[in-house]
Amino acid sequence: MFQATRPCPKSWETLLAIRQHDVAPLYAYEDTAMALYLPIARRTGKSMVVAQVGQSLDGRVATVDGDARDLSGQDGFDHLHRIRALVDAVIVGVGCVLADDPRLTVRNVSGPNPVRIAIDPNGRIPHGFKLLDGQSETIIIQADDQPIRTDVETISLPRNQDGLLEPADILSALFARGLTNILIEGGATTIEHFLCHDLVDRLHICIAPIIVGSGLPGLSLPPIKALSQALRPKVTAYNLGSDVLFDCVLRANAAEQCNQAHEALAAIT
Ligand SMILES: NC(=O)c1ccc[n+]([C@@H]2O[C@H](COP(=O)([O-])OP(=O)(O)OC[C@H]3O[C@@H](n4cnc5c(N)ncnc54)[C@H](OP(=O)(O)O)[C@@H]3O)[C@@H](O)[C@H]2O)c1
Repeated sequence: MFQATRPCPKSWETLLAIRQHDVAPLYAYEDTAMALYLPIARRTGKSMVVAQVGQSLDGRVATVDGDARDLSGQDGFDHLHRIRALVDAVIVGVGCVLADDPRLTVRNVSGPNPVRIAIDPNGRIPHGFKLLDGQSETIIIQADDQPIRTDVETISLPRNQDGLLEPADILSALFARGLTNILIEGGATTIEHFLCHDLVDRLHICIAPIIVGSGLPGLSLPPIKALSQALRPKVTAYNLGSDVLFDCVLRANAAEQCNQAHEALAAIT
């Protein structure tokens, strides 16, 4: 069986140092984990937006009733926590918050918690949810026609003609706060909005060996007529152990940053 992609302790320590200070790696690394995580850890002055979908073999992210809790395997969860530790902020939609009541903190690996961002245009997240527990910084993105919450920091944005908040406005507001490296953790509706506006640099599709057979699909994009119109990203597959990750490079910016990270790595090996 292929060796699982998992940073050795020294690699992980270095990735966290790069994330904090953008220091160059000091010694040669053999693990493929550096190729996977280095572009996300680096701060280049440009944005890096990663979206992650944890799905079953048949492309489901949750049951019909919205149960998604144990869909990914342990190594898939560890990978997710590594990404959380390497980014500045993690974004979720209100559907995910109401279904899962997530903490969005880093627990499976060592590393800092990201700023937790929930897109909740209509103020639907009730008091008492874990995102509002004060354990880590949280920002709610809401529509500017809603009363401003007093229990948490908020960013108010105008709705567009479809009643939605422009994904580009959301990212701009975060970048203005110095949050440049972003993980969009779900759900699918939220990821789709960013994908449709071509704002995702890298899409991580993490597949667990489970067949749900029904339930919520991983991604739904506007219909296309021919497969020639399908997205065909540059993809690298990683065996995480319990799950298999497809790391899809969607934007030139991400491709450029991956190349730079790989060149930096090659220069010291
Ligand atoms: N397997 C996985 O990787 C994974 C990860 C996360 C969640 N999940 C599962 O996915 C399900 C939730 O996903 P979901 O797709 O239903 O919901 P979601 O993406 O979490 O939230 C969608 C809602 O967020 C708000 N929203 C997001 N982007 C917006 C924008 N640009 N403008 C305005 N509003 C925006 C809207 O709220 P309003 O409705 O108030 O307008 C929208 O209906 C749950 O069952 C959860 O367990 C699975």
